[in-house]
Amino acid sequence: MQAQLTPVVIPGPRVGTGPGHGPLGSYERSLGRSRESLTRADRPDVFTMYDREWDLFPEVFAPVYSPSTRVGIEFLNLARPRTRDGGSFLEMGCGTGLTATMALFAGYDRVVASDINRMAVANAAANAERHGVGDRLRTVHGDLFLGLEPEERFDVVFWSSNYVLAPAEYSYRSAHERAYVDPGYHAHRRYLAEAPLRTTSTGRALLHFSDRGDVPALYGMADECGAELRLLATRQVRESEYGDDVVDHLLFEILPRTA
Ligand SMILES: C[S@@+](CC[C@H](N)C(=O)[O-])C[C@H]1O[C@@H](n2cnc3c(N)ncnc32)[C@H](O)[C@@H]1O
Repeated sequence: MQAQLTPVVIPGPRVGTGPGHGPLGSYERSLGRSRESLTRADRPDVFTMYDREWDLFPEVFAPVYSPSTRVGIEFLNLARPRTRDGGSFLEMGCGTGLTATMALFAGYDRVVASDINRMAVANAAANAERHGVGDRLRTVHGDLFLGLEPEERFDVVFWSSNYVLAPAEYSYRSAHERAYVDPGYHAHRRYLAEAPLRTTSTGRALLHFSDRGDVPALYGMADECGAELRLLATRQVRESEYGDDVVDHLLFEILPRTA
């Protein structure tokens, strides 16, 4: 079953400008945004999105301080209930589990939410429980696909990633920082190689990236992994929570390279 995706192509996306384009791609700035989102006095325990209340646990990526959760949900057409008739969905890096829970409301009938951050895994389970679908959302703790059964496959594999490149030697100072930067793009490289192996025969491996990340490096890594990237959709967003950045959000499909 194919994911129903509506490409939202804007004229002249700044794809390919890489992290050398000033402060947008600065990992120090992203770590600053991480720190602020984690420690600000008004960080809520519960927030409202899509007319529902959601728990926000400590150390978990806060959808209220970044547009990326909402952009991901729009990319995937998950905002409206019952638009799907079954199918399986893996949310890699689930954070609060909002996207995974919305996938259930949209009609996917087998949904798994996985994260390397244990607090996020607990948060996703709590939100599914809060909305009466706790028995239908499976949560998994692990580094990318390591927590899954070897044979598990999905119609949609999706990661709204920590797309900012940090130096390879950077050591995380909190679990929360994992939502923002990827040292040396080690996790991205593995995702590019492994996500297409986790789809059903008609399934799709998807990556939500942005031009805060190093887009040329992503293409280079895909090539090294024997994969091709297809840009399915873009959405330009003014991100004004911390500063005033205009960011191109990008939805890629990862495909095995055709000869
Ligand atoms: C940008 S946040 C997105 C969170 C959530 N999907 C959302 O949209 O609100 C990226 C998420 O990826 C998770 N993550 C980072 N590296 C990971 C890895 N190696 N394996 C699994 N999850 C990872 C982070 O912990 C974080 O929850």
